Amino acid sequence: MEKYRLSLQERGMAIQYAELPWWKTGPIYQIYPRSFLDTNSDGVGDLEGIRRKLDYLQDLGVRGIWLSPIYPSPLYDFGYDITNYHDIDPVFGSLETFKLLVREAEARGISLIMDMVLNHTSHLHPWFIESRSSRDNPKRDWYIWKDGPRGPFGKGYPNNWMAAFGGHAWTWDKPTEQYYLHLFTEEQPDLNWRNPEVQEAMLAEMQFWLDLGVKGFRLDVINYLVKDAQFRNNPYHFRMTYPRRHDLQHHQFDRNQPETYEIVHRIRSLMDLYAGASEDTMLVGEVYPDEGVHAPDLAATYIGNGKDLLHLAFDFSTIYTSLTAADLHSVLQTWYGVLSPGAWPCHVLSNHDQSRAASRLCAGADNEAKKRVLAALLLTQRGTPFLYYGEEIGMEDGVIARKDLQDPLGKKYYPFHPGRDRSRTPMQWTGDSAAGFTEGKPWLPINRDFRKRNVEAQQRDPSSLLHWYRDLITLRQEEPALLDGSIEFFETGLQENVLAYVRRKAGSEVLVVLNVSGQTRPNPIRRGGTVLLSTHRKPQGTIEHDTRLAPWECTVYR
Ligand code: NOJ
Repeated sequence: MEKYRLSLQERGMAIQYAELPWWKTGPIYQIYPRSFLDTNSDGVGDLEGIRRKLDYLQDLGVRGIWLSPIYPSPLYDFGYDITNYHDIDPVFGSLETFKLLVREAEARGISLIMDMVLNHTSHLHPWFIESRSSRDNPKRDWYIWKDGPRGPFGKGYPNNWMAAFGGHAWTWDKPTEQYYLHLFTEEQPDLNWRNPEVQEAMLAEMQFWLDLGVKGFRLDVINYLVKDAQFRNNPYHFRMTYPRRHDLQHHQFDRNQPETYEIVHRIRSLMDLYAGASEDTMLVGEVYPDEGVHAPDLAATYIGNGKDLLHLAFDFSTIYTSLTAADLHSVLQTWYGVLSPGAWPCHVLSNHDQSRAASRLCAGADNEAKKRVLAALLLTQRGTPFLYYGEEIGMEDGVIARKDLQDPLGKKYYPFHPGRDRSRTPMQWTGDSAAGFTEGKPWLPINRDFRKRNVEAQQRDPSSLLHWYRDLITLRQEEPALLDGSIEFFETGLQENVLAYVRRKAGSEVLVVLNVSGQTRPNPIRRGGTVLLSTHRKPQGTIEHDTRLAPWECTVYR
């Protein structure tokens, strides 16, 4: 597939984003630190590795980095089980390296956001160790403890809630003869967010990072924080899914309680204190719906008008959709439709919990062409795009043998659930051994395609996916209509699998046509123009009003 690109200078335009807060101006890049770059040969990525790749990220046009957890952790859930919220796990480096990373990233116009796990700690966190030490310990009420009802056959669970990683959400603590709640593994006890001391303590932890220059947080399962005051049973929800009992419930009482919004508001107030005039800090929430269910309306409630709650929230609908123009249109249109006027959307196709979009949506024939369509889609929508490391080179899911599994979910449900290791395999930097990721033994196997698919090879090839991403990001940052213009879809092309839309700002219009099919199709916009960027046409060339789009063609024009 031929592709041409114009440089910034050739377009003769200045980057327009000066007046927008950083998190509205470009992609935020999620790094799974264990898998990015290992500089001390222990097989696990580290902060120094990220620091060394800042130029790469700057060149790509990234404006923010979300770091998956780097706090000390015994790794029952790979960092989402934290024993100390204000330190760095030695496997990743030290606070000193972290400070350097923040400074050097900021110098390149890249802000850092931390992953904040508020719902639960590790069972080895000193708070929980105290809490479980006796029923009258002052920290007892920092977690959720309950008696089980006694029946003819002994004790029973306090209610029917199930843990996401298997079994009941309640574990019996023999010494103190009560159950504690954990919505994930039993090594991740849930905090009691109804306790004001917990709120104070966690806000202080967040402040620690803000004081170090961090510009925001990705809030892990933010909608789980507060539980039903009466601990009522969740209703049954029948569906065809693999045998995880957790998914056979509608999570009505263990999530999304009204009090959670008050806490989010408190967190937002803290962020605003650090925001300055330019809305410099940002919260993006993981609002986890019932598995596989499209719930953009739920995510939207956590943003509200954009002023009092979260700045951004992930809508998982794009993760649960298929690659057809009609489905993509429906998901995006619904997402925009449920957001209040002051809210700013964001979009995500891949993350560390899901199969990568490159595998999930692009498998089979024309898979590389499909990846270009997804990139063009993500980077020309309204709102902030989130990229997952390796997405820019088209990294696919790894194939992980049972003996190499690390993820608790994958181990527990093998072979019924693929687990999450497949999307966490090491970044493919070069075609050398271990893909240039480590000189040691990588903590997860390197994907088999690394000799062909790697950053170095794609940097050399101007027609590579990496260049396509970079060009799209540059274009997005140069064109006010793409950066923060409105969006309107042309529904006429949907039948033929063409997604077309216009982005508008202050009299300027940018048109986007994406042929989501392997066939030649008419352009539903029926208007010609000057090409800005295309998989198939020269920039500055003309596209005719009656042109036919090549299979999987993506063209952005004016
Ligand atoms: C959501 C995170 O994305 C996932 O990786 C983690 O296992 C759970 N929350 C528990 O923290």
